[in-house]
Amino acid sequence: MILRINNLSRHYGSTKAVNGISFDINQSDYVAIVGPSGSGKTTLLSMITGMLSSSSGEIYFDTLKLSSITKGELARFRAKNIGLIFQFSELVSHLSVEENILLPALLVGKFEEQEYREKCEFLISSLHLHTIRNQLPSSLSGGQIQMTAIARALINEPEILLADEPSGDLDPENSELVRKLLSDFNSRGLTILLVTHDMNLAFDAKTIYEMREGSFTRVVK
Ligand SMILES: Nc1ncnc2c1ncn2[C@@H]1O[C@H](COP(=O)(O)OP(=O)(O)O)[C@@H](O)[C@H]1O
Ligand SMILES: [Mg+2]
Repeated sequence: MILRINNLSRHYGSTKAVNGISFDINQSDYVAIVGPSGSGKTTLLSMITGMLSSSSGEIYFDTLKLSSITKGELARFRAKNIGLIFQFSELVSHLSVEENILLPALLVGKFEEQEYREKCEFLISSLHLHTIRNQLPSSLSGGQIQMTAIARALINEPEILLADEPSGDLDPENSELVRKLLSDFNSRGLTILLVTHDMNLAFDAKTIYEMREGSFTRVVK
C-alpha cells in the first residue's frame, strides 16, 4: 500500500499546526518524523488516521481518498489495514494483557486461531511480557500498558503502522525492545510511519524528516 500526503494543512485559529505538508510512503518504507513538542506531529498523524479532519489537502491510501469515505467505511478500513499506537494507550479493563493483545483478532479475524496464538507468543516474548500476560490493566504500570498496546497494534499484521511517540512512557530498556521490534517487522515488510521526539527510536528509519512549526524543515536521512 502507498500512502500519499498532498499539501496537507490543519489550522487552529492563527496557529498553523500543520502547514502544507506533502510526502509519500511506499510499501515497506520506514519513515520517521522527528520534531520538538508542539511542532505538529500529533496533528499530522491524527489526520492520517482519519480521526481529525484537515483544513486543506488530501490523504490517499493507494487510490482511496480518506476524506471521501463514510465513518463506517473508515472504521472498517482502519481495523483491517492500519495498526495504531498512541502516546497514551488504553486497554480494555476487564481483559488480561494477553486477551487485550488478541482483541483485534476477534474484530478482524485475518488469520487462523493457531496462527494468532503463535503471533501472540512472538510479541509477548519480543516485548518481555511473559510475567504480566495474565494480569489486568489496573495492575500494570504506564510502560506495561504501552508495551501491551504496541503488541496489540501488530497482532493483525497491518499494512501500515502509524505510531505517535510509542516510547513516550517507556524506560530506555523497553524503548530499545520497541526499537528492535519495529525494525524487525519493517525488515519483514511492514510499512511504518513513526512520529517522535526520540532520535534513538527513529534511528532505524530509512527516511527521517525534521518537523518544526507545522512544516518539514529538512531531511535528516
Ligand atoms: N485541539 C487543538 N486546539 C488548538 N490548538 C491545538 C489543538 N491541537 C493542537 N494544537 C496546537 O497545534 C500545535 C501542534 O500540536 P501537536 O500536533 O500536538 O504537536 P506535537 O505532537 O508535535 O507536540 C501546537 O501549537 C498546539 O498547541
Ligand atoms: Mg504529540
